[in-house]
Amino acid sequence: MVIKKIAILFSGEGSNLEKLLEKLHNQVFEHCKIEVATTICNRPNALGIEKSRAYGIEPLIIDHTLFENREAFDKALVEAIQNSGAQLTVLAGFMRFLTPYFTQNIKAINLHPSLLPLFKGGNAIEESFASPMKVAGISVHFVSEVLDGGEIIAQQCFEKTEDMRLEDFEVKIHNLEHELLPQTVKNLLNRK
Ligand code: GRF
Repeated sequence: MVIKKIAILFSGEGSNLEKLLEKLHNQVFEHCKIEVATTICNRPNALGIEKSRAYGIEPLIIDHTLFENREAFDKALVEAIQNSGAQLTVLAGFMRFLTPYFTQNIKAINLHPSLLPLFKGGNAIEESFASPMKVAGISVHFVSEVLDGGEIIAQQCFEKTEDMRLEDFEVKIHNLEHELLPQTVKNLLNRK
């Protein structure tokens, strides 16, 4: 059985981290077994830390505030990911801008709460909710030097209804994310 290892990076709540662990960690699929080799968090108080521990994986805390600049932080990230043996890195709510040092050394995918290329950046949910568009959605894309700009791998959309409040809209987005991200990772890895 071929084992394919992934690294998961997160910064906060970790609900997507949890779904990845639940649906993929040590799961056997047709062409491989997927193993979460490491989880990495840049915030020492992130709620996701306990979620990772619940699956027996002690997260590596790499606190970005302790580094001189972005590249020094990214070097530490790259080293940790390479040491873990992960062939794919999944950014699941990892809230840091990444430098070319990271993007040139690590094959990574990111989850973004809008229909890219619309609403890039940190306010995607609010901006897509406030827009006149009648649909909204989520994207999984490869990470490149351009923020939220790499090749799109998968998307899911839904209809924005008149009675939807921002809270409902957010719940809808997170529910879709919890399905699409694990499914996309599986699709990328479960190949001959
Ligand atoms: C998600 O909405 C994701 O799209 C965005 O950050 C959020 C992370 O949520 N990049 P969680 O930490 O996985 O709960």
